[in-house]
Amino acid sequence: MSRTSDTSHTSDVLIVGGGIIGLVTAWRAAQRGFAVAVVDPEPGGGAAQVAAGMLAAVTELHYGEQTLLGLNVESARRYPDFAAELTDLTGHDLGYRRCGTLAVALDSDDRAHLRELHALQRQSGLDSEWLSGRECRRLEPMLAPGVRGGLRVDGDHQIDPRRLAAALVAACERAGVAFHRTWAERLSVLRERAAGVVTREGVVLGAGQVVLAAGSLSGRLAGVPDDLLPPVRPVKGQVLRLTVPERYAPFLSRTVRAVVRGSQVYLVPRENGELVVGATSEELGWDTTVTAGGVYELLRDAHELVPGITELPLTETRAGLRPGSPDNAPLLGPSGLDGLLLATGHYRNGVLLTPVTGDSMAHVLTTGELPDVARPFTPKRFSTVRTEQPA
Ligand code: GLY
Repeated sequence: MSRTSDTSHTSDVLIVGGGIIGLVTAWRAAQRGFAVAVVDPEPGGGAAQVAAGMLAAVTELHYGEQTLLGLNVESARRYPDFAAELTDLTGHDLGYRRCGTLAVALDSDDRAHLRELHALQRQSGLDSEWLSGRECRRLEPMLAPGVRGGLRVDGDHQIDPRRLAAALVAACERAGVAFHRTWAERLSVLRERAAGVVTREGVVLGAGQVVLAAGSLSGRLAGVPDDLLPPVRPVKGQVLRLTVPERYAPFLSRTVRAVVRGSQVYLVPRENGELVVGATSEELGWDTTVTAGGVYELLRDAHELVPGITELPLTETRAGLRPGSPDNAPLLGPSGLDGLLLATGHYRNGVLLTPVTGDSMAHVLTTGELPDVARPFTPKRFSTVRTEQPA
């Protein structure tokens, strides 16, 4: 049993989780005049330290995810102003690169799959251009000679999530956000209302409103009533970082991606010479081991796409956990317990959805209502399903 002491810290808004979603919520809430605190042992850590940072609303479109597409596109639209504001405020270069994306096919099955994606993109009113294999290689000469065609999407960009996280920590500090560098152990509930959290050390952090933004850990906070725990699960992604030596630059000028034997592979070239290769997608619970098999498959698939990568130094291998939700879309807004809001479940789109999440959470914290753009993502969409399940 944990020790507890009297409430020694109180805030208007307490954010549980200092990843990019928690940080952007804290920053935007502080800008609205709230006294804000964040509880996290390592603010700016988490999945942003692993993610490649593709802003891929168009190339990551999937059947059945039209509603999510609206939110993704809106967040992409807000990115230029969001990045400029954050850079002006903090002086941090975010590595925001409006470079576009090329999704290519390596065989006739891949090409058929890409043609279907192209049709779906067109039906959805998105900009995307079909290119022959030769046209793809003209754009990106390092591509394998066997590339059979591809989709040029000039609107899918990238940002460096590590720089984004550092800038958000700086922006929060400037806005007066308090950081409690520890674990939130339990939600404190008083008179059927969330009232703060108790930390691992037994300190009570009181708050008028609590936002649970703990990524894949969001479904595990003790004290949240069972039927209101967000249905979020960890989905492991292994990611590699390589370095492009000066003499090979420019190795790639935009993000290049493909589906190889059913698995996604992408190569994201940064202006500073880093080349990020991702990512596996594994349902293995809380495991974050980097495996020989994961690294092998990523290198094998990336090599089929861009054979020259085998010349590059491999500088880092890492695994992170995406917060997956049952419909692959985030849970935003009131949870069903007064005073407890959610900002979690962003799955593959956390970096892309950072601007719209910050704005939407600040809006709901201020008014009690989600803005129109975020309304379909209320956590309450899952409550009927759960009450219908057998006990
Ligand atoms: N959005 C890329 C990934 O989750 O791997």
